[in-house]
Amino acid sequence: MNLENRAIIITGASSGIGEATAKKLAKHGAKVTLMARSEDKLKALKSDIENEGGKALVVPGDVTNKKDFDKVVEKTVSEFGKVDGLINNAGLMPLSFIDKLKTDEWEKMVDVNIKGVLNGVSAVLPEMKKNDNGDIINISSMAAHRYFPGGAVYCATKSAVKMFSEGLRQELAPKYGINVTSIEPGAVATNLTSTITDEDIKEKMSGMLEMETLESEDIANAVYYALSQPKRVNINDVYIVPSEQK
Ligand SMILES: NC(=O)c1ccc[n+]([C@@H]2O[C@H](COP(=O)([O-])OP(=O)(O)OC[C@H]3O[C@@H](n4cnc5c(N)ncnc54)[C@H](OP(=O)(O)O)[C@@H]3O)[C@@H](O)[C@H]2O)c1
Repeated sequence: MNLENRAIIITGASSGIGEATAKKLAKHGAKVTLMARSEDKLKALKSDIENEGGKALVVPGDVTNKKDFDKVVEKTVSEFGKVDGLINNAGLMPLSFIDKLKTDEWEKMVDVNIKGVLNGVSAVLPEMKKNDNGDIINISSMAAHRYFPGGAVYCATKSAVKMFSEGLRQELAPKYGINVTSIEPGAVATNLTSTITDEDIKEKMSGMLEMETLESEDIANAVYYALSQPKRVNINDVYIVPSEQK
């Protein structure tokens, strides 16, 4: 139980990687605050965690809204006494080819995948600075390392998250004891492709998912690995891909 009593906020906890991470961290003793827009799913997850003897708090919210994030921090502090960690996991991936000009989808990706991460950091930083302690884990992607068809904007958002993580680490870890990790998964079996509206991409994706992908629990294990290190150890990047993915 080496995460005993650590208060950790997880965004995008209502499904996939966020849900699996919340279960994993709670199992190891963390008190988890669950944030996403789907309140019903978060409540069901809280019950699952509590039935296993863990502690969870539901604070529904949208990561693009700074006030929602402030509420998440306030409630975490009032319920758990502090904020020890933030897992910036919420994200979406409506892939499309650039010449389709699906500009609303581009903006949504920038808002959630990049600005959502910035909002999370600005919300938790005063509390972490006060305590001279914290862990920030950003879920970037293999897409930060390489372009794939229809992924120009998505890859750009995940590259931004990866480079922002490195800047955060250099500015925060030595000065405030806040460790920062970027996790970069390849294909994971989740609902992430459900927001794709470009029919040409949908066809391409169906072929790609014939390989054996990672499970959300594999990424939860990577998050746990980064969080469970001694304070002197900062895991910078975890690049984790399915064995079958080229
Ligand atoms: N699956 C993969 O292959 C893969 C690979 C590399 C990286 N990733 C990254 O992993 C992260 C998690 O994705 P996933 O694969 O687990 O997909 P998922 O099952 O679709 O989960 C996405 C989560 O983000 C939340 N979310 C979306 N927009 C939000 C918003 N505006 N405010 C708050 N929460 C929001 C969703 O909850 P609500 O809809 O309830 O708000 C959901 O909980 C993403 O950042 C994704 O880019 C995934």
